[in-house]
Amino acid sequence: MGLWGGRFSGQTSDLFKQFNDSLPVDYRMAEQDIIGSIAWSKALASVNVLTSDEQRELESALNDLLKQVQDNPELVLQSDAEDIHSWVEGKLIDAVGDLGKKLHTGRSRNDQVATDLKLWCREQGQNLAELLGGLLDALVELAKKHQDTVLPGYTHLQRAQPVTFAHWCLAYVEMFERDLARLNNALKLMDTSPLGCGALAGTAYAIDREALAKELGFARATRNSLDSVSDRDHVLELLSVASISSVHLSRMAEDIIFYNTGEAGFLEMGDAVTSGSSLMPQKKNPDAMELIRGKCGRVVGSLTGMMVTMKALPLAYNKDMQEDKEGLFDTVDTWSICLKMAILCIESIEVKGENTYKAAQQGYSNATELADYLVAKGIPFREAHHIVGRAVVAAIEAQKPLEDLSIEQLKSFSEVIEADVYQHLTIEACLEKRVALGGTSKEQVAHALSRFNK
Ligand code: ARG
Repeated sequence: MGLWGGRFSGQTSDLFKQFNDSLPVDYRMAEQDIIGSIAWSKALASVNVLTSDEQRELESALNDLLKQVQDNPELVLQSDAEDIHSWVEGKLIDAVGDLGKKLHTGRSRNDQVATDLKLWCREQGQNLAELLGGLLDALVELAKKHQDTVLPGYTHLQRAQPVTFAHWCLAYVEMFERDLARLNNALKLMDTSPLGCGALAGTAYAIDREALAKELGFARATRNSLDSVSDRDHVLELLSVASISSVHLSRMAEDIIFYNTGEAGFLEMGDAVTSGSSLMPQKKNPDAMELIRGKCGRVVGSLTGMMVTMKALPLAYNKDMQEDKEGLFDTVDTWSICLKMAILCIESIEVKGENTYKAAQQGYSNATELADYLVAKGIPFREAHHIVGRAVVAAIEAQKPLEDLSIEQLKSFSEVIEADVYQHLTIEACLEKRVALGGTSKEQVAHALSRFNK
């Protein structure tokens, strides 16, 4: 007899069974289903559906099962049960006989799956928060080492103004800190227990759902049974935080791939995270970074998929919602391996300070400084901008940086230019001027890092 045998006399087609079964995906919630079942057995005992002896017997059989599952999570896959909920129930009945059949009293797979998945999301979310913390640590460490390393800063992929390598690291620190805040916020919002909402209308037993929620470690019970069994916001939120974070990871990967090119030569990645070419012996490819950049596509795809699955679903539970797990599980796996890989890569980075310095010197990245110098001498900025533009054209023609033009040459663009101009055109001067909050001056970067000196 299957789970819903009584109403049916005909056989299910094999194709339908294969199509309908979710065990190959949701077997990963075995622990959560067992833990939820133990809590439910206690709730049933509290309303005298189970005697305390019966509850104890169920709990001990469920704990045995939990241990088996922890020892071998793939064990579940050896069964042809429809889903993880029927697998656990079936195993319980195998272990304790008819008593096992009492556990599903007042419960539906609808509140059960909603509870299991929230428990799963909570656990995974906590792991991901730790990984994000690890990546933040790695970036902060790298930043500390490179407070004096000059890096050309870019806009439109054209050298724009010099920054420090630490400042670059700290830009990604900001992004991953926001991801962490978003993740913690999502975890807080999902901290409610749907158990005891039944199929859709609520359970017919006077269970103290708040106590049940506490038993499962949730902050409180959900408030509306229709919403409880059909809410998948926690899935959408995790997918969305993962998507945003993957975009950040992907952008960081792209920067590193560019910095690692032969053309830039700004850094080298460790042997442990790069690969060679089977044909070209000189190659050292940033595969890890390219994969991080590439996997972002799948993560964003899962968010899109789930959004579209949920769109226009009528209340309350619909089987469409079973589609929530595949993309979520894949996303959590992908996001977490990308974070682990990013940590390893960041730890392996060796910055080529001479090359970054040289590159920052080229590309007229001190042109703004010359304009600011003219402004200080009383020329309106718009006009100063125009004067410097002409000076840059002349310097390009002479194939020289601005600071290599003679004072006579510089004076030909504006009479106010004096010999003191050269001290304003050094990279160090460019950096040290960025003293307002959030700028790249040594002082501001040290201030940004001071938050992490615990
Ligand atoms: N395997 C189902 C899911 O993941 C469990 C809920 C089934 N409920 C139902 N009414 N068929 O959504």
